[in-house]
Amino acid sequence: MFIRDDIFYVGVNDHEIDLFEGHFEVPDGMAYNSYVIKDDKIAVMDAVEIKFGQEWLGKVREAIGDKEPDYLIVQHMEPDHSANIGTFLEAYPNAKVVGNSKTFMLMKKFYGTDYPDRQILVDDGGTLSLGRHVLKFLTAPMVHWPEVMFTYDEYSKVLFTADGFGKFGALDVEADWACEARRYYFGIIGKYGMMVQTILKKVSALAVETICPLHGPVLTENIGYYLDLYNTWSSYGVESEGIFIAYTSVYGHTKEAALLLKDKLEASGCPKVAIADLAREDMAESVEDAFRYGKIVLATTTYNGDIFPYMREFINDLLERGYQNRTIGIIENGSWGPVAARFIKQRFEKSKNITFTDTTVTVNSALDDVSRGQIDVLAAELLR
Ligand code: FEO
Repeated sequence: MFIRDDIFYVGVNDHEIDLFEGHFEVPDGMAYNSYVIKDDKIAVMDAVEIKFGQEWLGKVREAIGDKEPDYLIVQHMEPDHSANIGTFLEAYPNAKVVGNSKTFMLMKKFYGTDYPDRQILVDDGGTLSLGRHVLKFLTAPMVHWPEVMFTYDEYSKVLFTADGFGKFGALDVEADWACEARRYYFGIIGKYGMMVQTILKKVSALAVETICPLHGPVLTENIGYYLDLYNTWSSYGVESEGIFIAYTSVYGHTKEAALLLKDKLEASGCPKVAIADLAREDMAESVEDAFRYGKIVLATTTYNGDIFPYMREFINDLLERGYQNRTIGIIENGSWGPVAARFIKQRFEKSKNITFTDTTVTVNSALDDVSRGQIDVLAAELLR
């Protein structure tokens, strides 16, 4: 597939995958992108997941015919992109492999060799001329692995971004970009906001007309929209006005309290109230919603003298990703000795710029007039 100038898409779609990275649900599959730049020299940007080696090489051959690629550029060593480096270098014995010192360190660990006779070592700001296209390498450490680099082609104004700007989903399935890109970002890259900010600063000096990520569609229009979203996400900013209620419920009483709060918020004009049952819905969806909105409510039971397990997992997911700059309300339920609210607050003690609402709702087994009244007060406080 032609992208622009001499750049072609040679990636593959994976509809066999059940869980991406072993835990993310991907009902629409996954795309492992790869690109060919045909110039005086031919470069291939990244390999693909192990199962798709021959399909990928077939596409490379379709793009370049009988010619031989000169370079395989490795922007990211996670095996969904690196597992076929060996297949490629066997198929094209004169090709060189391009990476930085960390790329080759990881290559040796994963595949037993770093191809010492075929390496081209590059560093931040290093360039590789293919002819008209001169590729400039921008290291992007911990976005989301240490060896990651972006690559800018000034001739075509194309930025290759490794996992950055990627999304879940194969390319033969129509899907809204932001929804699955946000889930991907906060699931996989979200912990590394500061590092994303660093690479975005480098990118801001470049004229970018096309973004070629290693997952998801090639982005060709309205590039500012994607850059702005990445800036909001990586600076832990609030993307959408609204409130997210995340709940767990054992016999339905905590759910009833969460739904009552949702009703009250909507009746009072809250523009958007998202709600999720953490035990039954995709946890990664809830994580992205927690980062999307500026206010969240955690509704859960006391269980084994602690917080209910799915809520514990959810909070851990938020803390691992540096959750910050948010207001949190709590609805706790406990039939004797409720402690969930206290333990939730303790877990966020070291988080930056977290404000708890003055009102905490305590349900003693089931809603009563007192807890309904507290929900009214919490709704009002959240909307202030
Ligand atoms: Fe798409 Fe971090 O691998």
